[in-house]
Amino acid sequence: MLFRQLFDKESSTYTYLIADLTTKNALLVDPVLEQVERDSKLLEELELTLRYCLETHIHADHITGTEQLRQRTGCLGIVPDKTQTSCADQQIHDTEVLQLGSVTIKAIFTPGHTDSHMAYLVNSDRVLTGDALLIRGCGRTDFQSGNAGILFDSVTQKLFTLPLETLIYPGHDYRGHTVSTIGEEKRWNPRFVGRDRTSFIKFMSNLNLPKPQKMMEALPANEHCGSVDVMP
Ligand SMILES: [Fe+2]
Repeated sequence: MLFRQLFDKESSTYTYLIADLTTKNALLVDPVLEQVERDSKLLEELELTLRYCLETHIHADHITGTEQLRQRTGCLGIVPDKTQTSCADQQIHDTEVLQLGSVTIKAIFTPGHTDSHMAYLVNSDRVLTGDALLIRGCGRTDFQSGNAGILFDSVTQKLFTLPLETLIYPGHDYRGHTVSTIGEEKRWNPRFVGRDRTSFIKFMSNLNLPKPQKMMEALPANEHCGSVDVMP
């Protein structure tokens, strides 16, 4: 398997390139519109065929590169099945496995940051946690049908029950981290260590975070797979 973590500085977003080296089929998870050139060049250099663009959720902080990549490569756009969007080619449901040659990508329904969020377990040894679980943090729950209690359940009952050595690759990082493990986050993630469901809900409701700068353009665009024609 080829596995690459790519970073967009402006939105602090990680995009993941995953490919099966025998068939040369590739998939991008959470591509960013402004990085379509970078991603296309890399795919070309590595002689990979992009089959899918897969979203963990509808993003509020950046516009997805899916529509542009779909136009360039003919790849399919896949979104979680509870997402309110009609532009996707395919939906993925909880526990469904997407096969890319010998690489398996299994969806884990992890709502809370949004009500349709999915994490993806790749080849059983690493999990793309999207914005459900970040390194020493977690996604916000104060808009987009977010719910702190539901996020607490997703993290503690689904992600934290994976084997301790499972690698965590998040959807964002703001402090320079790249990878962690389930064991490390269970021990050191300050949002969860020493907190029960009630105290986590209280903590999350007191964060008072500013709204993402791009939210007003990103949400409507992403509901159309990143088509910028729908932007105001
Ligand atoms: Fe998000």
